Amino acid sequence: MGLKEILKGKLSEEELKILPRSFDIIGSREKAVAIIEIPEELKGKEKIIAEGIMKLNKNVKSVLKKASERKGVERLREYELLAGDENTEVIHKEYNYLLKLDPKKVYFSPREATERQRIANKVKDNEKVLVMFSGVAPFCIAIAKKRNVKVYGVEINEEAHRYAKINAGMNGLSDKIVLIKGDVREVCPKIKEKFDRIIMPLPFGSENFLDVAFKCIKKGGKIHFYTLGSEENLYSEGIKIIEREAKKLKKKIKILEKRKVLPYAPRKYKVCIDFMVL
Ligand SMILES: C[S@@+](CC[C@H](N)C(=O)[O-])C[C@H]1O[C@@H](n2cnc3c(N)ncnc32)[C@H](O)[C@@H]1O
Repeated sequence: MGLKEILKGKLSEEELKILPRSFDIIGSREKAVAIIEIPEELKGKEKIIAEGIMKLNKNVKSVLKKASERKGVERLREYELLAGDENTEVIHKEYNYLLKLDPKKVYFSPREATERQRIANKVKDNEKVLVMFSGVAPFCIAIAKKRNVKVYGVEINEEAHRYAKINAGMNGLSDKIVLIKGDVREVCPKIKEKFDRIIMPLPFGSENFLDVAFKCIKKGGKIHFYTLGSEENLYSEGIKIIEREAKKLKKKIKILEKRKVLPYAPRKYKVCIDFMVL
């Protein structure tokens, strides 16, 4: 049974037609949080919808409505609790690892699990990997779980850094993951290592940190650069930015792969451009 069936009789036919078709569930079989975007026309019916979601998914203990866009350096948004428990801290299971987090306090998207695996699959044993903007450490953990590597994660949000440390420990990976709280621009150039691979998962602004990435990468190293692309021109703007920065720093690069990751806004996508620094 789906949400529409559960809400039949409680919402009009017109209202059922505009009911969101999907929503995110973050958490486990024991406790999860549902995050939903509700159109203006359904204002007044939000609680009924939230209760329907909880009836349909017995593990969902709280339903949060997106109440703003993501904003600020920490990429957080406001949420409104529509139903259930105010405590929204959960343990999310993704592939073969666990991530503890509170979506109200940190950035996390369960929709990016496949992309994390794509990157983890590219990593080779003994690489030194840097994850800039590492959040609660999903990339660090996906990689360290799969390969015999040392992964650094740098994150500015205090709460995300706190969860990242818990997560590395909870997955038995503390000895492979080094987590540093701070600004990528200040922290990364001070790390003594040079890296075989750098991941830059900050689609809204990672271009401002390409110079840091060029400074920290080994010759022959690979950079995974996330940015936004419009439907008609998914990658050209991102590639232009990379080439411009490389030229400025007198570096040669080779584009390796381009990938559409997820829809971001109407006719806009989060994309990843993988390139090698020669
Ligand atoms: C889009 S989120 C990605 C988080 C994580 N990598 C993930 O995939 O779930 C970007 C993260 O970068 C962090 N951030 C933004 N600017 C930063 C900076 N200058 N230095 C370190 N972290 C930063 C934010 O706090 C946020 O947690």
